[in-house]
Amino acid sequence: MTTITNIEDLRILAKRCVPKMFYDYVDSGSWTESTYRSNESDFQKIKLVQKVARNMENRNLKREMLGIEMSMPLSIAPTGLVGMVHPDGEILAARAAAEFGIRYTLSTMSIASLEDIKREVNKPFWFQLYVMRDRKFMRSLIERAKEAGCDALVITLDLQMIGQRHKDIKNGLSVPPKPTLRNWINLLTKQRWCWSMLKTKRRQFGNIVGYVDGIDDPSSLSSWTSQQFDPSLNWDDIAWIKEAWGGKIILKGILDAEDAKLANSVGADAIVVSNHGGRQLDGALSSIAVLPSIVEALKGTSTEVFIDSGIRSGQDLLKAVALGAKGGMIGRAYLYGLGAMGQEGVTKALELMRNELDVSMAFCGETDVNNVGRHILVPSTIPDPFK
Ligand code: GLV
Repeated sequence: MTTITNIEDLRILAKRCVPKMFYDYVDSGSWTESTYRSNESDFQKIKLVQKVARNMENRNLKREMLGIEMSMPLSIAPTGLVGMVHPDGEILAARAAAEFGIRYTLSTMSIASLEDIKREVNKPFWFQLYVMRDRKFMRSLIERAKEAGCDALVITLDLQMIGQRHKDIKNGLSVPPKPTLRNWINLLTKQRWCWSMLKTKRRQFGNIVGYVDGIDDPSSLSSWTSQQFDPSLNWDDIAWIKEAWGGKIILKGILDAEDAKLANSVGADAIVVSNHGGRQLDGALSSIAVLPSIVEALKGTSTEVFIDSGIRSGQDLLKAVALGAKGGMIGRAYLYGLGAMGQEGVTKALELMRNELDVSMAFCGETDVNNVGRHILVPSTIPDPFK
């Protein structure tokens, strides 16, 4: 087996291990995938300033996100269908994150349920809530998240309708996979996945099946999503969710300075600058490109700025922190590790990120991540798409 030295190695391995429809679900964007690609390539355009001959001993990567000390400025982003990427994937990833000292975020569209994470991991985590038409169900999810020990609620705002993802449509994405000839043939090449899937009971949307009236089997993600996700969602909805929750809220999917200010005015404790990993509006700017304008818009407020979409290395994370993000969130970077090697693979992904962050920071002459700022970036390479 090749020695794993970066996230790309984990991606290649995951592609071999995970059934095609679930690998493609992770590794794709909407329409032409232009936003999906620019999420990564825009990070590459930002250049770092190297400093030498400074004492680089005793470095610190610890940083608070929402007052919670993380071992590095990172948490795991909510991603759907994790338990199809690897059987019991949510539990394995939540365990790896807790052991690493960062927060895991469980998606509403997960296979393991809130209760499974509470029972199997028993450490605080974050829960991501989709705004759905069935408000009674939303309220029950909020109560279940409290019971499960979640210490922040991530509200995803950019999924009022689902972006058109061509690979998913072509693959006939469903949970569990439909027993078609094409799927059987593909599954024959993924024996480890099949074997461990047979050993787990978790093969449905654990937060939903059995909890929503009249929905016993939401097997087609897009049809359930289009029935349930609420196109009428608006800023007023945040108020009742915040009140029902009573704790910290993180609003995810902000790409615009005016929206960032609205998020602050409705009481967001944090926002996530995010284009949903390039899976929703293809043609939107990359997250890293809009980050500076959003940091500027929220300057002097108490709303923290997080970012996701495109972070594939600790060096990307360093650039985001330098541009004013309090922390980053990763989706694909950890999912590749999970698909490749289960819990061990998630830990590997986090170790890689930590090492890349640490070494890059030190080359830039900083020993404490809390002192990282724009001064470590070459000014002419700082994104300003609105100039
Ligand atoms: C769900 O949030 C997805 O991106 O599939």
